[in-house]
Amino acid sequence: MAHRFDILIIGSGLAGLTLALHLAEKRSVGLVTKKQLLDGASNWAQGGIAAVLAGDDTTESHVRDTQIAGAGLCDEQATRFVIERGRECVEWLIGQGVPFTPDAASVTGYHLTTEGGHSHRRVIHVDDATGHAVQTTLESKIRSHPNITLLEQHNAIDLITGAKLGLADNRCYGCYVLDSSSGRVLTVAAQHVILATGGAGKVYLYTTNPDTSTGDGVAMGWRAGCRVANMEFVQFHPTCLYHAHAKPFLISEAVRGEGGLLILPDGKRFMPDHDERAELAPRDIVARAIDFEMKKRGLDCVYLDITHKSADFIKQHFPNIYIHCKDLGIDITRQRIPVVPAEHYTCGGLMTDLHGRTDIPGLYAIGESAHTGLHGANRLASNSLLECLVFGMAAARDILEKPVLTSPTLPEWDESRVTDADEEIVIAHNWDELRRFMWDYVGIVRTNKRLERALHRIKLLQDEIIDYYRNFRVSSDLLELRNLVQTADLIVRSAQLRRESRGLHFSRDYPGMLPEARHTVLVR
Ligand code: FAD
Ligand code: SIN
Repeated sequence: MAHRFDILIIGSGLAGLTLALHLAEKRSVGLVTKKQLLDGASNWAQGGIAAVLAGDDTTESHVRDTQIAGAGLCDEQATRFVIERGRECVEWLIGQGVPFTPDAASVTGYHLTTEGGHSHRRVIHVDDATGHAVQTTLESKIRSHPNITLLEQHNAIDLITGAKLGLADNRCYGCYVLDSSSGRVLTVAAQHVILATGGAGKVYLYTTNPDTSTGDGVAMGWRAGCRVANMEFVQFHPTCLYHAHAKPFLISEAVRGEGGLLILPDGKRFMPDHDERAELAPRDIVARAIDFEMKKRGLDCVYLDITHKSADFIKQHFPNIYIHCKDLGIDITRQRIPVVPAEHYTCGGLMTDLHGRTDIPGLYAIGESAHTGLHGANRLASNSLLECLVFGMAAARDILEKPVLTSPTLPEWDESRVTDADEEIVIAHNWDELRRFMWDYVGIVRTNKRLERALHRIKLLQDEIIDYYRNFRVSSDLLELRNLVQTADLIVRSAQLRRESRGLHFSRDYPGMLPEARHTVLVR
């Protein structure tokens, strides 16, 4: 079955929704998302959006903080491009109706919090559930817009490019999409296709990410011929709730921003021994320090303590974290919170320019699936939602300036040589194996030997999955596993190419930092 739109957006996170709303007045938009609209990391974002809003803050200061966190690898032009547009983005969200937390005492009228690596209070937020407030506000506009066709439970499989069609150009003309409810594969044609598929947290056993974060956009773009950059920089958030009977749950960095302290079981603080910025050092440093203390002392977790603040303050600033922990038997106004690091953010991705364009004409990448150059070797807290907004707007402007093209008729998905899968257990087993060895071998601290081991196992999995993909009808689980293994391969190969320790990539074999900061670029 064929569909045709001016624009096809894959992913309904903040990047995808921002772009859709900026295009829909002038173009027909198909918005494909593999679960429900709200399923994605954006809806789970807690701390907020970093932007220069306070009178005593400056663009220079936000740029500098981003560069320091990025360990010398942030692209100067991209960093300025994003940060200079922070205010415009926040004003757009306010105009859409996002109810940011007010503060009568602040000249901005809004409460600004802080997080690790920020030298000013500049994180605007909606309590401790910023993402949900933003996404539900935009959701109502998307669902009611006459020019937007929302296809939920639709999983993008692969891009349709000129190269695949045997044409002289390698333009992107559309995408094959699995309708998960019916099992049918649609052919979707569009003049411009945008990958806004988020990160790849599910490559790891422990992650703060939702189930949708399976690296699909990076894998699809890579298979189509795009370059990827800096995939070795996988961010581990220092404070994920540690609880035997709960799914991973983030304890926002804003808890440390508002005074929370990291302590050992005996109550002693340890961060001052690791960095003069202590609990508010950038994330790579705090996560590595926790990992070090846990391994040195054989601990299952460390603790985050905010009990020195009043119960009213805690409940007012962190109502959702308070309730979530309370439901699990932890009263954070009186008890310390057990925490461990967990995978949180994919800094690398498909290489794009300042319009969100990839190497393939007609194909854009925005949000966490893109590598714009902003994050360098370690993303500064709350710069991700900002990047989604800035590049959602920039890509829309670029697309609206492009002439309308005629596109070729696209071939239907060919299922003539496949049968129904015989053993679904292979998928579940391989998924589990991948996430475990990635956690063990490609985590916070890496070695040459561990990376070699991981790559060897990835190759075995890849062979099995490609064989499975060629012979059996596609399912969402198979598509995700195929993309996860592809993404893991890109992470490990990038890590092997970096012969130094920088930002989020720490290698025991190369503990020092080289004098020159270089990007790791993989070309297919
Ligand atoms: P997502 O919001 O993840 O959306 C991706 C979308 O693509 C989803 O709709 C998904 O279903 C869809 N999709 C994926 N693959 C396919 C496919 N094959 N076919 C169809 N659809 C597909 N950042 C901040 O700046 N501030 C914060 O406070 C903050 N807090 C966070 C808290 C948590 C718990 C987490 C996990 C992340 C947080 N981050 C925060 C990071 C930030 O939320 C994400 O980087 C950002 O939301 C990514 O947005 P996105 O639009 O790129 O992707
Ligand atoms: C958090 O609230 O700690 C997450 C912020 C981020 O990932 O930017």
